[in-house]
Amino acid sequence: MEEIFENLPQHTCNWTKGRLIMYKYQGIWNLKGLHEGSILAQQNFKAQPTDVLLCSYPKTGTTWLKALSFAITTRAKYDGSTSPLLTTFPHECIPFLERDLDQIENNHKNSCFPLVGTHIPYTCLPKSVSASNCKIVYIYRDAKDVLVSYYNFVRGIYKVPEEDAPFKEAFDEFCEGVSSYGSYWDHILGYWRARQERPGRVLFLKYEDMKRDATRDMKRLAEFIGYPFSVAEESAGVIKNIIKLCSFENLSKLEVNKSGSYNPEDATKIETRTYFRKGKVGDWENYFTHEMKQKIDSLMDEKLSDTGLIT
Ligand code: A3P
Repeated sequence: MEEIFENLPQHTCNWTKGRLIMYKYQGIWNLKGLHEGSILAQQNFKAQPTDVLLCSYPKTGTTWLKALSFAITTRAKYDGSTSPLLTTFPHECIPFLERDLDQIENNHKNSCFPLVGTHIPYTCLPKSVSASNCKIVYIYRDAKDVLVSYYNFVRGIYKVPEEDAPFKEAFDEFCEGVSSYGSYWDHILGYWRARQERPGRVLFLKYEDMKRDATRDMKRLAEFIGYPFSVAEESAGVIKNIIKLCSFENLSKLEVNKSGSYNPEDATKIETRTYFRKGKVGDWENYFTHEMKQKIDSLMDEKLSDTGLIT
C-alpha cells in the first residue's frame, strides 16, 4: 500500500500548523489512513442487496443520521430508556466501511443488521454496491455550514487555537476541493447521479429540512430502509420519541458523547465531543465575509444548479 502514496499529489494544510496532510487519489483529497481504509473497502467489501449504506460528506449530519437510523431499526428491541444510544457514541452503533470490514462481514453472516456508514464518494465505492443494487441514504447540508463545522472539527482534533488557524485558508482550500473526501460538490454530484441511475434506491435528506421538521423525513427514512412506522406507533408518539432521543440537545449532554473517544482510522483518536459542536443552521454567518459567501454560493450554484438540490 505504501508505494501508492509515494507519487500522489500532496497538500499540507498550513492553518492546522502543518498537522493535516492530504493526498489526492482517485480524484479525491483525503488523509492517508482514510484512503487506505477506502482502498481496503474497495478490495474486500461485498455489499448485500439488503444492505443500507448511510452515506455522507463529513460534517453534513452523519452522526445524527446514524443515531436516527439506528433508533429506527432497533425500536422493537429498545425504547428511549434502554437504547444503546444512551451509552454508546452513535458512530460506534453503525459499522464504518473505511474501518470496520470485519464487523460488517460478521453482521452479514448473522444476517440481521442492514446499516453500514461511509464517507466514500459514490464513484469510489466498492463495485459490489452498484452490483448488489443495495439502498443508499445520502445526507447533505449547506456548504457554508459544512466548512465551518469542518474547520472547527479539525482545529479540535489537532488542538489548534482559532487565532492560529486563519479561516480564510481553510475556505480557499475547501473551494479548491481540498478537504477530507473533497471536493464537496463532486461528492454530492456523484450521489445525485446515482439517484438518477437507480431511482427508488437512493434517498436524499437535507440537514436544514430535518432541523425544520424532522417528522416528515423520519417517516421517509423509516419507510425507505424498510422499517415503516405504523399508524399506531405514530399515535403512540414513537416518532417524536426517536426524534427527541437523537436530538442534538439530548445526545450532546450524554456522558459518552461528552467524554468518550473514537477512532475513525487507526492512527487517530478523536474526542466524541468534537462531533457535537452547535448543531445549528447558519453558524457560517459568524465566519464568512460577504465576498466569501458570494464566492462559495456561486461555486455551488455553478456545480450543482442542474440538480435542483440548491435552493
Ligand atoms: P456543527 O459543527 O455545525 O455544530 P457529522 O456528524 O457529519 O460529523 O457532522 C457534525 C455536525 O453535525 C456538527 O455541526 C454537529 O454539531 C452536528 N450534529 C451532531 N449531532 C447532531 C444531532 N443529533 N442533530 C443535529 N446536528 C447534529
